[in-house]
Amino acid sequence: MKRFDVVTLFPEMFSALTHNGVTGRGEGRGIYDLVCWNPREFTDDPRRTVDDRPYGGGAGMVLTPSPLVKAIHTAKCRQLSTGVKLSKTIYLSPQGRVLNQQLVEELSTFDGLVLLSGRYEGVDERVIEESVDLEVSIGDYVLSGGELPAMVLLDALIRLLPGVVNHSESVVDESHSSGMLEYPQYTRPEVFNGRRVPEVLLSGHHDDIRRWRQEQSLGRTRQRRPDLLKTEGPN
Ligand code: ADE
Repeated sequence: MKRFDVVTLFPEMFSALTHNGVTGRGEGRGIYDLVCWNPREFTDDPRRTVDDRPYGGGAGMVLTPSPLVKAIHTAKCRQLSTGVKLSKTIYLSPQGRVLNQQLVEELSTFDGLVLLSGRYEGVDERVIEESVDLEVSIGDYVLSGGELPAMVLLDALIRLLPGVVNHSESVVDESHSSGMLEYPQYTRPEVFNGRRVPEVLLSGHHDDIRRWRQEQSLGRTRQRRPDLLKTEGPN
């Protein structure tokens, strides 16, 4: 079983993932488990303070190191105690390595992951130095916290786990796993608002269909995402 531990001030948000759809089914089938750790539970003042004003001044609040490091430590202990041999601790932040399918596949080789979701203006840098192995961004835009990014990463990882998606083909065929965009899909009816399903798909000639789909993938990728076709250089 894959083990995920998430350090977050908003653990309820993660039930969106564990209670719905493909990712919900994966948890129901015992293919992975997910435990949330709230840094607020690791405070020792009566007001359960998790943030403070930034040294040097400036807008917003910064998450204070001690509750975060304690929560991460507890999460790492849970990984160990459940038999995880290979684990990484990831901080979701716009400063991180930008997520793509290749990084998802790399991260899928770990038995477990600890994910740290920040809030406010960020976390005290010493938390990253002390407890984080890797920073990951889900794209060049800023969200109000790391919870949605953590869920994006988890969804991409969970759907790759054997037994989660029913047809093992459907995770091989799709956009990005091949480095190209997916071909267009059609289902019944044959004519919808005057628009016909491409004839070749009704032909039953599987070689023709395969060729047509390849051409569609390549054409779409050229047109919409030429950057994906450039030969690989350093990231
Ligand atoms: N936290 C806020 N914005 C983020 C982003 N784009 N990726 C990862 N974590 C974030």
